[in-house]
Formats: sequence, C-alpha cells, structure tokens
Amino acid sequence: MRIAVFSAKPYDQTFLTRANAANRHELSFFDARLTHDTAPLAKGFDGVCVFVNDHVDSAVLEQLHAGGTRLVALRSAGFNHVDLAAAERLGITVARVPAYSPHAVAEHAVALVLSLNRMTFRAYNRVREGNFALDGLLGFDLHGKTVGVIGTGHIGLIFADIMHGFGCRILAYDPQPNPQAKAFVEYVPLESLYAQADIISLHCPLTPDTDHLIDADAIALMKRGAMLINTGRGRVVDTSAVIAGLKSGHIGRLGLDVYEEEEQLFFEDLSHGIIEDDQFMRLTTFHNVLITGHQAFFTNEALTNIAETTLANVDAFECGSGTLHRVVYSKRV
Ligand code: NAI
Repeated sequence: MRIAVFSAKPYDQTFLTRANAANRHELSFFDARLTHDTAPLAKGFDGVCVFVNDHVDSAVLEQLHAGGTRLVALRSAGFNHVDLAAAERLGITVARVPAYSPHAVAEHAVALVLSLNRMTFRAYNRVREGNFALDGLLGFDLHGKTVGVIGTGHIGLIFADIMHGFGCRILAYDPQPNPQAKAFVEYVPLESLYAQADIISLHCPLTPDTDHLIDADAIALMKRGAMLINTGRGRVVDTSAVIAGLKSGHIGRLGLDVYEEEEQLFFEDLSHGIIEDDQFMRLTTFHNVLITGHQAFFTNEALTNIAETTLANVDAFECGSGTLHRVVYSKRV
C-alpha cells in the first residue's frame, strides 16, 4: 500500500524503513504534522500514518477521504486525537499500536519520581558550576511512602510493580479494576487516593471523564506537598490549577511528560525562537517542576514495536487477514 507518514522525524524513518525491509509498502515521509493545511499531501495515498499531535478531526478526515485514503494507522496507543465517529461515517479504518512498550512509559514515570525526589537535575547544574551546597536538594525515602496510581492498565500496573519494589504502599483508582493487578494493589475511591498518597501518577487515557481530572478541587483533596506525575495525556491536568497548587505549596513536586498545549511545542527544536506559551514558561520557572517533551515512549524497544505493529496493521488491512488493531467508535471512548 502507499502510505503517507506524517510528523516523520528521522527516527521514525529509520525504524519504519527497517520494519519495511521487504518493501511490502511504499512509504512517503513528511516532516509536517497532518493538519487541514497539509492533508492535501495525502491525496492518492491509500493510508496515512500519524502520531499524537497530528489532527485527525472531522474536517481532515473528509479531506483524506476525498483523496482516496481508507486507513489511518496511528503510531500511538492513545487515540483521543481522532474523531472516530467521523472516521466510521466515512468508512475510514483507524488502527493503533495498543501496547508497544508499557515498560518504557512506566520506567520514565519512575525516572521523573526519582529525579524530582532527589533533585538530580538541579544537582547536575550545580556541580558543573562548582556549587556543592546541598540546600534545596533534600529528598525523602521512597520506602514506606504511599503511591497513588490512577489508571491501572498496561502502564499503570508496571509502574505500581516498580514502586512496590521500592517498598511503597500502592493505592489505585480505576473504574475498571484490572484482574491482573497483584494483591498489593489496593483499589480505593479517588478521594481516598488523593487524601493518602505522597506520590500520584496518572496512567489513564484522555476521555471526557478524565479531561481536567486534576483540577483545583482534586488538588485541594491531596496531601500538602504531594508529588504529581503525568505521563498520560496533557489535558488530564488543568495547568492553571497546578500552577496555583505549586504557588501555594500544596503540590510539592511536579513531573510532566505531557502538557495540555504541547501540540505547539513538543517534538520541535524551538530553541532559537520565542516560546509564546506563558503558562508553559511559568511552569519552567519552578525549581520543583521537571518537564520532559513527551519522550516516555522513546526507547529502542518501543520504536521497534511501534514500527512493526504499524506495518502489521497495514498488512492486515490490505490482506483482510492477520491482526488488525482496529479502534472502533463507541459513544463514550
Ligand atoms: P490501557 O488502556 O492499558 O490502560 C488505561 C487504564 O485507564 C484502563 O485500565 C482504564 O480502565 C483506565 N481508566 C479509564 N478511565 C479512567 C478514569 N476515569 N480514571 C482512572 N482510570 C481510568 O492504557 P496504557 O497502555 O496503560 O496507557 C495509558 C495512557 O498512557 C494512554 O492512554 C496514553 O494516553 C498514555 N501514554 C503516554 C505515552 C507517553 O509517551 N507519554 C506513551 C503511551 C501511552
């Protein structure tokens, strides 16, 4: 099949080209994000391959459909950026990569916890400048602390396992508790998790129910000084509310790999220009905030799985056999 690959960074090209070694498909790589303006590039392509910040809304899907596209192959697990109702109406199949490496994301969330706790990012800069003072670097033992995991799917359960290995008590909230959760995972109501957890980590998808789940009311229920980690989706956290929480000291440490307005920032080198997002820039001024640019998935194993599963989805769509990880529209996704 002819596939137009959008948001194609050099690493995407490397891994997809490797997975397509038998040249089963004709891949054309576009650095541009898929948007209303760039959708004409896909004209004549049977499929498009997109990532998390590409626009796959109703208008773009209409354009893709008019150009002959019948498959949208997501290089992600999350599909909140796709208008599934419009895709179904237009007869466009949407496929995703359900679990390319839950370890990659869970381990990155743990990296944020460890760095924020011991302030290793501040220590790195200090030591390079010959400043060996320890003030401001005080951490706490993870052993014996309570960790709240919101969303206990593939990633959340691995995160829970690792944190349990540090000697933490694990509380969890999920409207659909995972039968594979180990006995040490104690499911509690959300309010109870907020009230007891020293560290809260978000591993739920972005849905109407989780949109701004972490708002001023949720923060008010948390322990003073709690650490909040978000490697899920940016909009799960209300940025204004966390900034207020940081200013008041209610949030003690904040680790973000995702940000609600990340589409304008992440995956690009903007270091030569002016960042216009004032909320984002305010976040970067706190010494107790650590932000990474949506890199939790970025491991060799994950990129290999993403490329292989994406092309397997294309194979299955083309041949009508094999496993197609189709995303099906339902009224509440
Ligand atoms: P999953 O589908 O295996 O698990 C998600 C869990 O969240 C499910 O158990 C589900 O019942 C639960 N959930 C749904 N609504 C909820 C709610 N209102 N409150 C609490 N829990 C709720 O998904 P997986 O693979 O664990 O990924 C989780 C999320 O991580 C993805 O949806 C995606 O947004 C994000 N992600 C981030 C990446 C990154 O690079 N930062 C990479 C991959 C995924």
